[in-house]
Amino acid sequence: MTQQDRRTALASLAGVGLLVAGCAKHDADGAKNAGDNEDAVTANEDLMREHGVLRRILIVYREVAPKLVANAGAVDAAAIAAATTLFQSFGERYHEQMLEEQHIFPIVRKAGGEAAGLIDALLTQHARGREITAYVLDRTKSGRVGTGDAQPLARTLTAFARMYEPHAAREDTIIFPAFKKAVGPKGYDELGDQFEDIERRTFGGDGFDMAIDKVGDIERRLGLADLSAFTAPAVA
Ligand SMILES: [Fe+2]
Ligand SMILES: [Fe+2]
Repeated sequence: MTQQDRRTALASLAGVGLLVAGCAKHDADGAKNAGDNEDAVTANEDLMREHGVLRRILIVYREVAPKLVANAGAVDAAAIAAATTLFQSFGERYHEQMLEEQHIFPIVRKAGGEAAGLIDALLTQHARGREITAYVLDRTKSGRVGTGDAQPLARTLTAFARMYEPHAAREDTIIFPAFKKAVGPKGYDELGDQFEDIERRTFGGDGFDMAIDKVGDIERRLGLADLSAFTAPAVA
């Protein structure tokens, strides 16, 4: 190594050292800020993890549909009713009505553009979803699914999942980013806090934690709790 090379190498190391020191300070600041409120989630993170709970209910719907057709008597209808009741309280009355319809959609509609053009379809799907929820609860409330109800119930559960998957995916990728952009950083933080307050008032605590516990219990009752069971088979 020539003297010039050594000087260059030392200068690089010094640069790395400064970078590392800078990163360490940044991490410490971040940790300190995060430590102020460890459980704080931003508005969109909150909305998207709520979709995660709802998606797990859609998976329940899709998985039980063929089982209903094959042998309705062997399916725990009370567990389906529990899944639908959770979708109604956490998905429809809280996530859709209190957050999206009262706060997100009016802001996005006013901002215009591609996202605003989706609002009418999203509202139609909320309304159709509520009709389907009422129907599913009616057909499962006795704790068993009648033989004549198995086919139409399975079809309806599948149609609901087919509708709500693109619904939530459009909200995650188009509506929520448009909402964040429209309200600006300060409004975004304030609305995030407001959403947390609504959640605590509605559920008397952390609604997300409660919903996760419930959906986990429903998955266990229906034999859907093992993530590995969903791994695709090897390609033949
Ligand atoms: Fe929605
Ligand atoms: Fe949503």
